[in-house]
Amino acid sequence: MLETNQYFKGETGLELTNIEWLLDHHKTKLQERRKTVDELNLKPGDVVLDLGCGPGLWTHLLAEKVKPNGRVVGLDFSPDLIDYAAENLEKDPLSNIIEFRKDDFHDASFDNDTFDLVFFSNCFAYVTDYFKIIEEMKSVTKNGGRIAGKDFDGGLFIVHPIEPQLSLKILTATAQALKEKPLEPPFDNFTGRKLHGLFLQAGLKDVSTKSYAIQKLSPLIPEAKRYIAGNAEWQAKIGTPYLSEEDLKQWRTHFDPNSDNYILDLEEFYFCMLEVLTIGTT
Ligand SMILES: C[S@@+](CC[C@H](N)C(=O)[O-])C[C@H]1O[C@@H](n2cnc3c(N)ncnc32)[C@H](O)[C@@H]1O
Repeated sequence: MLETNQYFKGETGLELTNIEWLLDHHKTKLQERRKTVDELNLKPGDVVLDLGCGPGLWTHLLAEKVKPNGRVVGLDFSPDLIDYAAENLEKDPLSNIIEFRKDDFHDASFDNDTFDLVFFSNCFAYVTDYFKIIEEMKSVTKNGGRIAGKDFDGGLFIVHPIEPQLSLKILTATAQALKEKPLEPPFDNFTGRKLHGLFLQAGLKDVSTKSYAIQKLSPLIPEAKRYIAGNAEWQAKIGTPYLSEEDLKQWRTHFDPNSDNYILDLEEFYFCMLEVLTIGTT
């Protein structure tokens, strides 16, 4: 059994980059992720960069769209995640068009004008200089190519039937803690809302944004239970300095399968969170 902190922190020390966490996240949202990839309007032959690819789960979905003669490069600086991606690639029927590289996305060495699309998913949270990274992406994208940012936004996290007052206290405490006691390395839980403005300010053209409500109803698959309970525990952990013991205890009982207050098996359970996809042209 992983300790809570191990579950959230990958070997790079970043929050929410642990491999188990990323796999649960992917399985929980696979249906929605396929739709997001449809929105990218990729075509066979396109060359795509999956920047901050983690375990390479999106990389395969992207490759399905550009096969048989396209190419997808997945890049991440985490040795564990890239090793996992490379091991899985051995069994992947699309292995001939996928490549993984271990590198830092702040100074990845690609030739200019290489990619038709750069995909950057759930990574802006770890970036401190947004414009530097967007300039990097622009330089490796072909003239008229596209950059797609996909991020969640921590401002929406509905877990019914928990009292909204309690949920809002938890959200407020998390936001306050991240502002007043920032994580090291930094982590921004509210990047989804910023993507549209960032892409405009960075001078990208034809900027378009779509927001998706990710909804989960009962019965939940085990990965979704772990993902939602994990998310709730991450918020509790971050928000602790700004929460009463009573509120923390009550929140946690709702995600504890041994408690009478457990909500994840209830028929009326409803979960909703927000994801944002912004696309701009170079
Ligand atoms: C939340 S994960 C997202 C992974 C994947 N894109 C997804 O959506 O499932 C963030 C990823 O960014 C990677 N990352 C963070 N900072 C990085 C950097 N400076 N260079 C390369 N990768 C980085 C982490 O290792 C992690 O895999």
